[in-house]
Amino acid sequence: MSGEPRFLRACRRQEVDRPPVWFMRQAGRYLPEYRKVRQKAGDFLTLCRTPELAAEVTLQPVRRFGLDAAIVFSDILTPLVPMGIELSFTPGPHIANPVRSPEDVDRLQRPAPWAGTEFLDETLEQVRETLDPETALIGFSGAPWTLASYLVEGTTSRSFTKVKAFAHTHPEAFDRLTATLADAMADYLADQVRHGAQAVQIFDSWIGALDAGDARRWGLAPARRLLERLEDLGVPRIYFPNGGGHLLHDLVDFPCEVLSLDWRVDLGRAARALPRHALQGNLDPGLLMAPPEVVRRRTRAMLEAAPGRGYIANLGHGITPEVPLASVEAFVRTVQEHRHG
Ligand code: CP3
Repeated sequence: MSGEPRFLRACRRQEVDRPPVWFMRQAGRYLPEYRKVRQKAGDFLTLCRTPELAAEVTLQPVRRFGLDAAIVFSDILTPLVPMGIELSFTPGPHIANPVRSPEDVDRLQRPAPWAGTEFLDETLEQVRETLDPETALIGFSGAPWTLASYLVEGTTSRSFTKVKAFAHTHPEAFDRLTATLADAMADYLADQVRHGAQAVQIFDSWIGALDAGDARRWGLAPARRLLERLEDLGVPRIYFPNGGGHLLHDLVDFPCEVLSLDWRVDLGRAARALPRHALQGNLDPGLLMAPPEVVRRRTRAMLEAAPGRGYIANLGHGITPEVPLASVEAFVRTVQEHRHG
């Protein structure tokens, strides 16, 4: 196929020969070649901050599987460092100075757009130079609620008690926090587009922790603010509300081109409920632990349920480190062999 990458055409709901395919966390520990580079870098943040190595691991899954998009290698938490946050990975994320009071919110810095993550600009440029013109390059950030939950909890949480305590005790300060994050991430993503990102994905990994009302105020409202600020960039915007099946009605007019769905959502029903968006997803990442023939059968079922136009094959969340390569291969090949009727 020539012309615009298949991935970008599908984001815009234009005709394509087959669905494009890539997957969340495609550069990672399930790949032996990633583990090698990761070991050489020593620590995860060093890997993110070394453009030659970050570019290499960005390209690894694309080379191995012939994917339709690369996602730049970094983490949703790295842009918090220039905002004044002390971040480490041990191996999960750890914030030494979490946000625990309204005063802490006001102490967050708003970096000049965008200072402190120059390594990412360099990685994007290096990847774009090497990447086949038919493969798209995706930039990303965390969504305000998801970033706020890390800022307050200080690490990955199961129960979200600290962030919920903060939001319900200091609702105005919490609104300020999510608005600050929305504006900072809008600048950060604009910077990524200037350096070669052709689409952007916003990860709202933890919006599923909120009931519908709180999700509207603390999750969807600031995510909407962020997405609206990206409109003029002219690149497809992908929003991923993980665990957001209870919010589909609120997403009908959401200001983005693509909605990425987690595996709990029924794809066929979502396609009928969300006629204005391209959809991305949503195979259960746990299914990659199944034998390859099961993966092929379930991937074909997913493709049958998907809309014929405006669809990007992906997992319903990030790939896990334990998955066998043969199952990943089975997933990708099944999509690549599929043809739109
Ligand atoms: O998708 C890609 O290939 C691009 C790179 C990418 C990473 N993290 C690399 C990474 C992306 C897009 C992310 C996003 C991210 N990071 C999210 C949103 C997506 C999601 O999973 O919901 C979140 C919540 C984070 C925060 C984060 N980073 C956690 C909780 C962890 C530790 C858990 C784990 O998987 O070990 C990380 C570390 C991380 N980010 C790794 C990778 C490859 C593993 C680090 C390692 O190599 O040791």
